[in-house]
Amino acid sequence: MTILWQSEWNTGVDFIDAQHRDIMDYINQLGHIIPDPKPKVSSLLGNEAVEAAHYASLFGSLSTAEFGYVLDEFIRCVENHFACEELLHVEDAYQLAAPHKETHDLFLVRIKKYQTQYNLGEDNAEKLYRILNKWIEQHIAYDMDLMASVKRCRMSDGA
Ligand SMILES: [Fe+2]
Ligand SMILES: [Fe+2]
Repeated sequence: MTILWQSEWNTGVDFIDAQHRDIMDYINQLGHIIPDPKPKVSSLLGNEAVEAAHYASLFGSLSTAEFGYVLDEFIRCVENHFACEELLHVEDAYQLAAPHKETHDLFLVRIKKYQTQYNLGEDNAEKLYRILNKWIEQHIAYDMDLMASVKRCRMSDGA
């Protein structure tokens, strides 16, 4: 379940890619709440295997209090990232800016609802982690269109 960075996730906008990596790291940290998921690292090579083994060694090492803290930081990081993306929409008049922002808003509402439930003592950490684990790939795929559009706009402006 550990997320490893995929080269096809590079959007070509460096600071957005750096933010996506930070978000991925937070999600991997949240995954440490899960006890021993028996990760398969044998099929990986080189740095990927080292990275996966490192994450695997940390599974089950996160306390519930730490999970709450990392979740807070994750949401702060995502809010900042969404604000940056939305600023790009404005600067470049991205035609799908409104629906893209709506996906951000809906995601935050959904995750904050889980966060509130968690803070009230609900045992939903693993479920939340699994949702985030799937979400990041969908989020980046959706962003690829945005970044391609931003680049087209900038090229046509001569920027
Ligand atoms: Fe993004
Ligand atoms: Fe986005």
